[in-house]
Amino acid sequence: MSDARPILIFDSGVGGLSIAGPVRAALPRAPIVYAADSAGFPYGTKSEAEIAARVPALLGRLAERHHPRLIVIACNTASTIALPAVRAALDCPIVGTVPAIKPAALLSRTRTIGVLGTEATVRQPYVDDLAARFAADCTVIRHGSAALVALAEGMLAGVAPDPTAVRAELDGLFDQPGGAGIDVIVNACTHFPLLEPVMAAAVAGVAPGLRFVDGGPGIARRVAHLTQGQDWPDRPSPHRLVFTRLDAREAAIGRSLAGYGYAAPERL
Ligand code: DGL
Repeated sequence: MSDARPILIFDSGVGGLSIAGPVRAALPRAPIVYAADSAGFPYGTKSEAEIAARVPALLGRLAERHHPRLIVIACNTASTIALPAVRAALDCPIVGTVPAIKPAALLSRTRTIGVLGTEATVRQPYVDDLAARFAADCTVIRHGSAALVALAEGMLAGVAPDPTAVRAELDGLFDQPGGAGIDVIVNACTHFPLLEPVMAAAVAGVAPGLRFVDGGPGIARRVAHLTQGQDWPDRPSPHRLVFTRLDAREAAIGRSLAGYGYAAPERL
């Protein structure tokens, strides 16, 4: 039996590629539709009301168009704000992405964890709840960064990220009271793992042994579990890349991804 229904992976921009990578590694036969809300990017500087209105409606349109077997909201901002509304609106399994505070707490020796997300994510009660449930004995220090989102997006569009700018954002964590003790940083925005090598190099001299965690591996395991026993297409076809606005920047991102099994970008 062959089942061509894709897995739909959704983010405001390129961040969800840090989730698509582990999902593709876990399920190499799965067709992927990667959808980026480039017309609504960035989410992290928007209000809760804007995200809550935009994301369920957009995912409804994407689901109607692509008939996914499962949707991954590969965006911490959208997940921490709109996950219940999306689940209520769509008749399809939905996997969200929330800050990986639990694995970070399991790793931290100093019991001081940094949470690096968008401004919208780090102020969510959802994050307070995760910290209280899984890291009650840790100091959890947060920093919201729009600059890192822009740097990651620019990198995929062909502009190398400036290490000094990356370092300045990490200092937003380290310079807070108690921040010098951070030994694990949660990349609580899916854009940030794309910058991890630059981040690691930027702090190599000052924070030896610092580790980064993100939701990618856990989400890939969850998607594999939820699709266990399902059929996949007999013949692989290129993964699809869908943007809500298709301009020069999106075309440049499409060119960066062409070598990674994605077809030419299309507009929703
Ligand atoms: N990648 C998204 C996240 O995980 C949001 C980035 C943005 O649009 O600000 O939060």
